Amino acid sequence: MSFVLWKPCYCIGDSKIDNQHRSLVSLLNFLYDRVQAACPKRLIDRVLMELVRYAEEHFQDEEDLMERIGFPELEHHRREHERLLMEVFAFKEKFDHGFATKMELLHFLRDWLINHVIDEDLKIRRYL
Ligand SMILES: [Fe+2]
Repeated sequence: MSFVLWKPCYCIGDSKIDNQHRSLVSLLNFLYDRVQAACPKRLIDRVLMELVRYAEEHFQDEEDLMERIGFPELEHHRREHERLLMEVFAFKEKFDHGFATKMELLHFLRDWLINHVIDEDLKIRRYL
């Protein structure tokens, strides 16, 4: 059973962005599997950094799309992406210093990703 299930209702209607969202969910599930398998922290960190790097690239692609289609809330959405990146680095810091468990990290990442898709990314759908 996957830690995060991708639901068709999360799709915004752009195949590139939707595939990237699916890949982020897959990376999160891969991270969960590593945690379940009690992998050493350095291996957890490697997947975590891969996920963050992928998210950064994805945010840029999403912003490019919003620009192309003239999405009216682009600036707000851009700021949200900046906030998300600051948030994930702050949580990583907490995790690195032993102030958050691996499961807390996973729950944080799940909410971090899925809430953004639901609250912000889905607004793009009606402009496509
Ligand atoms: Fe977004």
